[in-house]
Amino acid sequence: MCDRHVLVFSICAAVVAAFVGICAGRIAPAFIHPCNNTESSCLIKATQDAILEFSKGLPHLGVPSLDPFVIDELPIQLPGVRVTFIDGIVTGLRKCQTLNVEAYLEKNIFILEMRCNITIKGKYTAVGRLLLFPINGEGDSKIKIVNSVIKLNIKTKYFKDSEGKDHFGIKNYRYSFDYGDRVHYTINNLFKGNPELSNTVLQFLNENWRVVTEEFGQPVVDYAMNVTIETAKKFFEAVPYDELLYVPIPKY
Ligand SMILES: *[C@@H]1O[C@H](CO)[C@@H](O)[C@H](O)[C@H]1NC(C)=O
Ligand SMILES: *[C@@H]1O[C@H](CO)[C@@H](O)[C@H](O)[C@H]1NC(C)=O
Ligand SMILES: *[C@@H]1O[C@H](CO)[C@@H](O)[C@H](O)[C@H]1NC(C)=O
Repeated sequence: MCDRHVLVFSICAAVVAAFVGICAGRIAPAFIHPCNNTESSCLIKATQDAILEFSKGLPHLGVPSLDPFVIDELPIQLPGVRVTFIDGIVTGLRKCQTLNVEAYLEKNIFILEMRCNITIKGKYTAVGRLLLFPINGEGDSKIKIVNSVIKLNIKTKYFKDSEGKDHFGIKNYRYSFDYGDRVHYTINNLFKGNPELSNTVLQFLNENWRVVTEEFGQPVVDYAMNVTIETAKKFFEAVPYDELLYVPIPKY
């Protein structure tokens, strides 16, 4: 009888504790595991723990999905050819591997290094001249980037929201992008009505993938980076500093 009371009491206590936990109003999702210090090993693990769920998006916090994310339309002017991606779907970010994370809270510097396999699939048009040939292509394209390495150097800031809570912010950023081991192009109909020439040129693009990618990759990567940073900004606006890192915030 007595035991039973203890049990009931324990269950009640657990329920109350859980309820208080919810009422305390933690905004950060459960997959955020805040570090107690800024040691790289902890930050790397916390980042890796968060990537999978974070990339799916957090609609209730106004954070859009990064995997997949959609490129409605992206025109790229190359020497001689204007390429436009339409309805592009970018996937793969949820499986990125976190190579390094460093945070210097006083200096407002945050460094992130990731290795990712990224696939971009969608429609394209290409108009102009390519390798002496007039080109007027239109069709489906798929670009697969294997083991690219992204190094992000973010200048952070701190700010208070309307309730007086501290938040991380992003002031600006720069990055380097190494296309990694290989980029595979699958593009059909590069030259309308000429499958032989289309295939020959596609083969050339694949054999010279590094030069080709360096030529036209920059605008695509700039675009993807901007989407990623804008997404991170939304997340930092929604979730206060003290739910992300259990380290006192520097004076600002
Ligand atoms: C931070 O410290 C708390 C309390 O000591 C501990 O429970 C938690 O696991 C620590 N977090 C990390 C990510 O090490
Ligand atoms: C990317 O794909 C390659 C080949 O399939 C694989 O060996 C590698 O581990 C993948 N890298 C990541 C970061 O997932
Ligand atoms: C980055 O994205 C935002 C929001 O989508 C947009 O307003 C801004 O113009 C973009 N900046 C660059 C440099 O593309």
